[in-house]
Amino acid sequence: MTDGDAELEARLAEQEVFEPPAEFVEQANVSDPEIYEEFEENWPECWENAADLLDWESDYDQVLDDSNPPFYEWFTNGDLNASANCLDRHLAERGDEAAIEWVGEPVDEENRTYTYAELHREVNEFAAALRDQGVEEDDVVTLYMPMIPELPVAMLACARIGAPHSVVFAGFSADALATRMNSADSEYLVTTNGYYRRGSPLDHLEKANEGLDDVEQETTTVVVDRLGPNGDDFGHELGPDQIDYDDLVAAHEGATVEPVTRDAEDMLFLMYTSGTTGKPKGVKHTTGGYLSWAAWTSQAVLDIKPEDTYFCSADIGWITGHSYIVYGPLALGTTTMMYEGTPDHPDRDRLWQIIDDYDATQLYTAPTAIRAFMKWGSEYPEQHDLSSLRLLGTVGEPINPRAWKWYYKHIGDESCPVVDTWWQTETGGMMITTLPGVKDMKPGSAGPPLPGLDVDIVDTEGEEVSPGEAGYLTVQKPWPGMLRTLYNNDERYIEEYWAEYSDVDSDDPDDWVYFPEDGAKIDEDGYITVLGRVDDVINVSGHRLGTMEIESAIVGVEGVAEAAVVGGDHDIKGEAVYTYVTTEDGYEPSDDLRARITEGVEDAIGPIARPEEIVFTPDLPKTRSGKIMRRLLENIADGKELGNTSTLRNPEIVEEIQQKAQD
Ligand code: WTA
Repeated sequence: MTDGDAELEARLAEQEVFEPPAEFVEQANVSDPEIYEEFEENWPECWENAADLLDWESDYDQVLDDSNPPFYEWFTNGDLNASANCLDRHLAERGDEAAIEWVGEPVDEENRTYTYAELHREVNEFAAALRDQGVEEDDVVTLYMPMIPELPVAMLACARIGAPHSVVFAGFSADALATRMNSADSEYLVTTNGYYRRGSPLDHLEKANEGLDDVEQETTTVVVDRLGPNGDDFGHELGPDQIDYDDLVAAHEGATVEPVTRDAEDMLFLMYTSGTTGKPKGVKHTTGGYLSWAAWTSQAVLDIKPEDTYFCSADIGWITGHSYIVYGPLALGTTTMMYEGTPDHPDRDRLWQIIDDYDATQLYTAPTAIRAFMKWGSEYPEQHDLSSLRLLGTVGEPINPRAWKWYYKHIGDESCPVVDTWWQTETGGMMITTLPGVKDMKPGSAGPPLPGLDVDIVDTEGEEVSPGEAGYLTVQKPWPGMLRTLYNNDERYIEEYWAEYSDVDSDDPDDWVYFPEDGAKIDEDGYITVLGRVDDVINVSGHRLGTMEIESAIVGVEGVAEAAVVGGDHDIKGEAVYTYVTTEDGYEPSDDLRARITEGVEDAIGPIARPEEIVFTPDLPKTRSGKIMRRLLENIADGKELGNTSTLRNPEIVEEIQQKAQD
């Protein structure tokens, strides 16, 4: 981890400590420092605190059943429904308050407010409609939708009838949709004809239809008409297995659907994420544990209160939007905001305009966005009144102290705590971050693990490393929000997350250790600085992409013999996709081939995976056993010193690639 070392040193050199603002502490949901000790002494019963934030139809009889690790069960035999927890129970007191404030991208458009009563009504109607279409409990419904209100409506409608949803990020390609639907054997799709990007309507149904062509099972599709007449140019007619969303909801006007009783361990949703192999992993989250975790962390870390107007700028197509736009905030009965578009449309002050207009109280965003805001300049936020903000958060990748401080100063006016939250799709919610009403903040370091979590930084043998030393992040004890398995693949679940540091033959939970595949360091105060992925996964603008997935798309392009993909440093995106390609006999490097490679990647995954740079080379640097030296290519991409290359089978190629990369 030598690169990490240098980077960390640079970060620590700048390290400062910021106390939580006194005004914030006074009103914080959690402000008692004793919580860390209390949770440790009272583990796992401490997690009743999370379960208590929900309404249970029948009580659980055990907080944690750890008799069969790593297949842990939380709140066993408890019954509840997620949709009832996010809607019904708020009706009496908050029925007329806004549940969702939705801001469409076009500025001259009516924005939409859904009160809890309105959201409840539409969720019921759509739940009835889904049932009518044949959706039964435990059927996986795929939602291929952008940031429109019908997405949370569909999620909650699925939850209401006990049908797990699988949301596929709208920016993903047709192929990515088909892979996910096939993997989950999903027979139902909810999608839309389009949405707006930088002022123009974007055709989405084309992609959905193309994906459906490759789905093996019979499917029924519901299509939301987001574009109205603006979509006419795309010339889509709905097919025989496709139904218009508005017609469907209108046909079920006033319908009510009794929330289905779900066991705490029943699946709430499936979320696909990139891993080390070319095949995305279907992460399974449950009703009781996940929802408790989303609610508890929203309350303790984001400090959400019912009267807040909370704004998370992530996309619901990723886990951040699931936990911190939909489930956490709605479980707490607050107002959650949704913005359809990009932060620079019509101008670079759009987010600040929204915060000003709606008096947003929290902003939760990603370092890649903060780096872009910083580059655009403080004159954009300065045009607006941001004094309604009380807390700022970031997630998705490490944030460097400079960007942290810019955020703290120019957005938070030095009066909002900044929570740098480390977590993953698999953890369901936040794991490592400061409790904003309790802990000092150290820019660049996420903070200590949340109370009740046992995190160690270890070496390859699993031994704890000393403070300041780089090692691997591990979680030593289970937690309620954890994934339960990978969909239909218990073996891969163990292999990917547990095998590295566990005694896989043991049934003693103490012998099982969760490995998130991140590198990290801890300081004397127990603050953890996350260094990034240690597997073949790169993090582009906070989005996880498997290098293997991209490589297999590239080698599928005619004329390509071999490809290596690595993440190289990028000012705004954090990391960007760098590819090194050798051509097949009879093919020469050309602009046409370059264009086809880019297209191949976009078709297989989506524009987020588009290569930043494609370097053609006669050979790839390989070890004597023929393994591609990706680390070396990464250093080339970053323009770093290469060190010893003499162990390569073909050391001469390195200089050639370096030369080409500079051209
Ligand atoms: C990275 C996103 C440093 C990390 C919620 C993790 C972070 C991966 C942080 C998960 C952070 C996330 N500091 N790195 N605050 N937050 N990461 O599944 O490498 O899309 O393993 O979940 O993002 O990405 P995922």
